[in-house]
Amino acid sequence: MALYALGDLHLSFQVHKPMDKFGRVWKNHERKIEKYVNRFVKPEDTLVLTGDHTWGRKLAECQEDFAFIERLPGRKILLRGNHDMFWDAKKTKRLNDEFDGRLFFLQNNFTSYNDYALVGTKGFTFEGPFYLDRLGRIIGWDEEREERAKKLVAREMERLRESFRQAKEAGYEKFIMFLHYPPTNILEKSSPFTEIAEEYEVKAVVYSHCHGESRFGDSIRGKYHGIDYMLVSGDYLKFRPKLIVK
Ligand SMILES: [Fe+2]
Ligand SMILES: [Fe+2]
Repeated sequence: MALYALGDLHLSFQVHKPMDKFGRVWKNHERKIEKYVNRFVKPEDTLVLTGDHTWGRKLAECQEDFAFIERLPGRKILLRGNHDMFWDAKKTKRLNDEFDGRLFFLQNNFTSYNDYALVGTKGFTFEGPFYLDRLGRIIGWDEEREERAKKLVAREMERLRESFRQAKEAGYEKFIMFLHYPPTNILEKSSPFTEIAEEYEVKAVVYSHCHGESRFGDSIRGKYHGIDYMLVSGDYLKFRPKLIVK
């Protein structure tokens, strides 16, 4: 048995949204996902998909994308990404009822893998705009947007706290934390997300959302304060699911 993660499938079997324009790695990326997930993930394994599943804006526009995800091996757990317009944060229970036994939507709840509680939420990160000097050094940023970002971070933190609370109440003491957005912005060394990860001594923080070579280093990667920070966006992994724990 193993736990894997992969993010940002950006499927569009129903709505037309070719991804090739974002670089060679995206050419026929659905086929790569199918090939590599089938190669690594066994039916008894668990696969967490960390958001940005589909370009469909309504549930009716995502049916083929979900059918593709359902055909992948293993138990599938889905996190909410910023592009997942089909997913009203207040209606997660409805999604879980509709896809019961097929897909699990992780939001204001938790699930488990062996003795680990899998907790998570979309998260949020201030992404600028940042203002640069002639040497490319950051000398400022849009402070109004930063204020708005703080509110979104606070809201996402409430959801994440609820996920941890439920897991703790159910008796779990080991945690793996999933976010769609990176846990920190490009200037931060810590954030409310890294603080809660440290508070609960999580084994790993798994996130995606960062696309393209220039963005892969936007946040923490590797061991930091005893926690493994893992970036699992599809293009970063060339669509090979990442092993989180065995
Ligand atoms: Fe994405
Ligand atoms: Fe995203």
